[in-house]
Amino acid sequence: MDKVIIFDTTLRDGEQAAGGTLNIQEKLEIARQLEKLGVDVIEAGFPASSPGDFEAVSLIAREVHTPVICALTHANSNAIDRAWEAVKEAERPRIHVFLSASDIHLMHQLKKSRDQILEMARSMVAWAKKYTSDIEFSPMDASRTEPEYLYQILEAVIAVGATTVNIPDTVGYAIPDEFGELIKGILQKVPNIGKAVVSVHCHNDLGLAVANSLEAVRNGARQVECTINGIGERAGNASMEEIVMAIKTRNDFFGLTTEIDTRQIYKASRLVSELTGFPVQPNKAIVGANAFRHESGIHQDGIIKMPITYEIMDPRTVGIPSSSLVLGKLSGRHAFKQRLSELGYSLNDDDLNRAFTAFKELADKKKNVTDRDIESLVAEEQRTVSEVYHLDRLQVSCGDRGIPTAAVRLVGPAGQVLADAALGTGPVDAVYKAINRLVGVSNELTEFSVKSVTEGIDAIGEVLIRIESDGITYTGRGADTDIIIASAKAYMNALNRLLAAKKEAG
Ligand code: KIV
Ligand code: ZN
Repeated sequence: MDKVIIFDTTLRDGEQAAGGTLNIQEKLEIARQLEKLGVDVIEAGFPASSPGDFEAVSLIAREVHTPVICALTHANSNAIDRAWEAVKEAERPRIHVFLSASDIHLMHQLKKSRDQILEMARSMVAWAKKYTSDIEFSPMDASRTEPEYLYQILEAVIAVGATTVNIPDTVGYAIPDEFGELIKGILQKVPNIGKAVVSVHCHNDLGLAVANSLEAVRNGARQVECTINGIGERAGNASMEEIVMAIKTRNDFFGLTTEIDTRQIYKASRLVSELTGFPVQPNKAIVGANAFRHESGIHQDGIIKMPITYEIMDPRTVGIPSSSLVLGKLSGRHAFKQRLSELGYSLNDDDLNRAFTAFKELADKKKNVTDRDIESLVAEEQRTVSEVYHLDRLQVSCGDRGIPTAAVRLVGPAGQVLADAALGTGPVDAVYKAINRLVGVSNELTEFSVKSVTEGIDAIGEVLIRIESDGITYTGRGADTDIIIASAKAYMNALNRLLAAKKEAG
C-alpha cells in the first residue's frame, strides 16, 4: 500500500494541550475544516471523559460525513459503551481502545501484571468489536515496552478483531532509528500483523515527533496520528502539515502519498490557532509567518531568478494566500467577496454583510487591508455571533496624571442595555473592572498578550487572554485597531465562553 492514512487527533490529543479547551461549536467547525482537508480519520474526542466531549463526538458523528469518525476510550466496558453511544451515528465509526503496556506504567500506575493487562486488552477489544468492525488498539507507552511483550499484546488484539494497531511514543522518548526498528520488528514478528494497519502516534518531548513518525512510515507504518500545528499534550504531537508536506515534497524518497488537499493546510492552521488561542511560532515549518519569507539578499536574488533556487515548496500548494493583492476603501463588495473566497471562506449573506461592514470601517482607518487583516476581522465577526453579552460602547480616559477610568455599555441576554464605570490601575484594568460590575461572574485573569496582525502603525492589534473560573481556563480573543477596544472584546469573548459553558453544564 503506497498511501499513508492521516489520522487527525487535533480534537482529542490536541485539545489536551494545557489551556486549549474548545467548545462544541468550535470543535464542529474544526472537524468541517478537517473534512475539507481530506483527513482519513478524525479522532473527535474521548466521550467517557466528560459530558462535553460526549456531545462533541456525537455532533461530529452526525454532521461530518466523509472521514471515519473515531472515539477514544480506555479499556473499560462502560467507557467503551459510552464511546459507541457517542459515535454510533457516524457513517463510518471507529472505536479506539487504549491500555498501558510498559512495565513502568503497569508497576507504578495500574499495579497489574503483564498477564492481567494482556487479558484486559483482549477482552476489551472483543467487547468493542460487538459494536463495529473498525477497531483500533493502542498499547500506551509502547516505545518503553519490552518488544516481545508488545508483540504478544498486538497478536492477541488482532486475533479478536483490532483492525488498526497504533504504536504510541506516549512520552516522546523514542529516537528515529530505534523507533523505525520497533516498527520493522512488529511487522516481522507479529504473526497476524497482515490483518491490521500499523499506525504510529508520536509526542514531541525531544522535538522528534515528526522524524519518528516518518521513520516509522519508512519501516512500514501506514497510518500516522498527528495534529494541526503539532498541538497536544505537553510538547505536542507530530505536526500534520509537516508530515504531509514531507511525504509530498520528498515523494522521490518515500514513494508514498496521502489524500490531503494541501491547499487547505494554511486555513486549517489559522483556524486551529484562532480557536485554541495557541499562536503559531513565526519560524514554524510550513505554516509559520516566516516559513516562505526570504530576508537575505542572495536568497531574494535567487528567488527572483527562479523560485526553486531557495524554495522547496510553492507556498500556494499549502494555501498561503499571495499577499500581492491588497484591498482598500475603494474596494467594493464584489472584490471583498472574491478575496474571501480565495482565502477559503464561504460566508452566508448575513455574515458576509457583517464582515463587509467591518471591512469598510477598517478601510477607513487603514490604507491597505491585507489578507491577514481580512482573516482577523472575519474571525472577530464570527466571535460575536453567539454572544450572551455584547460590548456596545466603551470610553476610556488615562494618562500620566489622571486616574485611569472606563465607562462601558453592554447589551445583555434579554436585549437590555447595561452601563457602568470603574477606576483601575491602567486603562485595561479599568475596562475589565467596569465589565465585571455588569456581568458579575467571578474569575481570575491568568494571561494577557497583544500582538499586531501586520506591520505599520495602523495595524490591527490582536489581544489574547485567558481567565480561570472554578479551575477551568477560558480563552478570549479580540481584534481592533485600538488595543484597548481589542482588550475589551477579548475579555467579553472569554466571559461569553465561560457563561455558555456554565449554561451547558446546567
Ligand atoms: O500518547 C498516547 O499514548 C495517547 C494514546 C491514547 C494513543 O494519546
Ligand atoms: Zn498522545
